[in-house]
Order: sequence, then C-alpha cells, then structure tokens
Amino acid sequence: MTARGEIIAGVLAPHPPHLIYAENPPQNEPRSECGWEGLRWGYKRLRRSLARRPDPDVIIVHSPHWKTTMGTHFLGVEHFSSLSVDPIFPNLFRFHYDLTVDVTLSRAICAEAAEAGLVTKMMNNPDFRVDYGAIIACHLVRPAWDIPIVCISSNRAYYDFSNEVGEAQMLALGAATARAVEKSGKRALLLASNSLSHRHFTLEPTLPEDMSREHPYHHGQYLWDMQVLELMEQGRTRELLDIMPDYIEQTVSECKEGSLTWLLGALGVPAYPAEVHAYGSVIGTGNAIVEWDPALAGGAA
Ligand SMILES: [Fe+2]
Repeated sequence: MTARGEIIAGVLAPHPPHLIYAENPPQNEPRSECGWEGLRWGYKRLRRSLARRPDPDVIIVHSPHWKTTMGTHFLGVEHFSSLSVDPIFPNLFRFHYDLTVDVTLSRAICAEAAEAGLVTKMMNNPDFRVDYGAIIACHLVRPAWDIPIVCISSNRAYYDFSNEVGEAQMLALGAATARAVEKSGKRALLLASNSLSHRHFTLEPTLPEDMSREHPYHHGQYLWDMQVLELMEQGRTRELLDIMPDYIEQTVSECKEGSLTWLLGALGVPAYPAEVHAYGSVIGTGNAIVEWDPALAGGAA
C-alpha cells in the first residue's frame, strides 16, 4: 500500500459471455473450439500491458448487469462463491466463481458517493448472486482471481430520468470513487464492463463460434464506434462526453448503463491518449478493450 492511494489504470473491459466460452477456462462448463480471437488477443495484450506495472491491491468494477432501481449499490460481503448462469446465453456461460471483496474500500466509496448527494446502499446479503458482467470483466482482465474486488451496480437514472441525468450521476460517482481510492492508500485498477454499440442479432448459428457469421450489426453503429474510439485515442474524452447522450440513442449503446462514464469521471476526464487494444463484434455488438494509463496525464481536460 502507498500512503496516498492511486488509480493505476482504467480499462474499458466488455463482458460478452462468448469470450469466456471461447477461452475454455476450467470454471466454465460449456466447451468451445475457438472464436472471437481479435477481442481475446486484445485482452491478452491488455494483461501484458498491466503486468508491466506492480500489481494493484484491488480491482473496482462497474457492471451493467447488476441493475438496481433505487440508487447505486456496492457488494458488502467478504466472500462469494456460486454458479453464474447467463440468462440469455446459458449454453455459453455457466461459470463457477469464487471471489473476495474489499469490503472496507467498498464501504468507503459508498460513503463518499453518499456524501456527494448520490443515493447509495451496501448489499449485505451473503446469498446474493454476483452478476455476470462483473465476473466476466474481472476474469478476462485477471484470470487468477487473486486480487479482491469492489463491485458497483448500475442504477436506473438514464432510464427513469434522461441520459443527461445518468451521465451527471456517473461522473459524480466516478469522482467519489477516485476520492475514496486516494484516501484508502491502495493501488486500484478500474474496469468499466460495458460494450459500445449494442444492436445485436436475435438468432445465433448452430455452432456459436462460427466466425463466418460474425460481423457488425450494421455499418451505422460501426461508424459511431469508430468515432468514439478515435476520440479516446486522441485524449478527447470531454468531447466524447458531449456526444454520449446522442451516441447512446443512435447505437442503443450499453454505455447507457453508466460504466464508461463512471470510469471517465474517476480518471478526471482524461486528456491523454488511451490505448485501444482491440475492437470486435459479438453477435453484432461493438466491443472495445481500451486502457487509460494515468501516468500519461499532463492534466485533466
Ligand atoms: Fe451486457
């Protein structure tokens, strides 16, 4: 631990269950032949990049699939172990997880966010089933499962109010997360577990890993994704936030769950270039693995 905590990296770490299926880790029951190599190799490049720095003390993940109606929730139990089954793709993802939570930091972020005026709650049910969005992102970034996590839910502000209200809440939640990390003295790795464009096919091939069937759902959402990635690579995340409400509507983007904007808020809306490790489609959706290294910061946007 350092005296003053720090965010060692922020990562856009999407969670298609297909990537776990294609990796064949021992925790997952279904077996595959291959598939989605561009994204899986991108995760490998990301892991190599992170390995060049000392290990983090904690991984903090914001997940689109822990959907909470009243405010933002945080895992508040030290250990969870169970079977996670993707409700849409039970044929691809039946994953036996066993994970440890940094409850101290979880509570600290929860309190910091409440102090900032956000509605928050600790989730203290030991039988709670951890959502697959958090599990998949954590596994693909750190398959060893040897670092405690903090898991943050996605609230319904985008849906109940507007994209603009959701965005404002996520920026505030990100800033609160950064303040809590700094006070904690810990080194934190942050993961935003969302895809980009999210129109998708409603049928899958008989063989799910048949890559002759995989491509973007349509060219329009692909163009939007390319614009978003260009802004990230050029350190223009303030402009990215400006177009985010429209981008969400035009591409049915999973950014509507708030993970990416939370991450940008925690990183202080970075003006330094991000590293795009990979982009690829999964059942037509756009997915990018993107890393921000705060060591490159010359100042916030
Ligand atoms: Fe998802």
